Amino acid sequence: MASQIPTNFSITPSDRIRHKGQQPYVVWFTGLSGSGKSTLADAMEKELFRMGLHTYILDGDNIRNGINSDLSFSAIDRSENIRRIAEISALFLDAGIIVLASFISPYQEDREKAKAIIGADNFIEVYVSTPLQVCESRDVKGLYKKARAGEIKSFTGISSRYEPPISPDIEISTANTSKEQAVKKILEYITQRCIVGTLPV
Ligand code: ADX
Repeated sequence: MASQIPTNFSITPSDRIRHKGQQPYVVWFTGLSGSGKSTLADAMEKELFRMGLHTYILDGDNIRNGINSDLSFSAIDRSENIRRIAEISALFLDAGIIVLASFISPYQEDREKAKAIIGADNFIEVYVSTPLQVCESRDVKGLYKKARAGEIKSFTGISSRYEPPISPDIEISTANTSKEQAVKKILEYITQRCIVGTLPV
């Protein structure tokens, strides 16, 4: 690993926080494919945007089709996927942006590493615990059908493991919670952790 002596740039993260008038953080949605992670990230972003906050969603569309297009769904590549996403999230955080990250992120160890990279104080883990049967019956992308037919190997929940978070900050099943209720629950949690404390008035 190359060692790098850091340059002391003049503008600090605190400067950017003051400039933007917002405290950045990362809301990390983990759960099975089709559990509703990106739908919740979208609803959450709409609400934060409405509040005048600066946000960005990281998900499979902009990450796996771009910077991580060299990665497969093997265990090693999934770990690398999450490591890079955590590093990217940390850069956004440094830039003062609120990140909504939506990834299966199936392994506990990788999520813990992501939390360490981002910083525990700025990391909110939302476990989207919609049961497999519900995700599979939705099968929005038709991938479960292909996985059952053996056309997709190592598919999470079918032929690749998903390790539920041990102590998520928030747990939401979209099988019995509306988008509106979910957003309210996440906002209440963030407020209680005093993260949204420095909103512009
Ligand atoms: S992760 O496991 O590495 O965190 P990630 O969230 O980036 O996964 O990508 C998951 C998305 O990729 C799924 O929602 C699905 O659309 C697609 N996908 C393609 N192949 C697989 C697979 N084998 N397992 C899970 N998802 C897959």
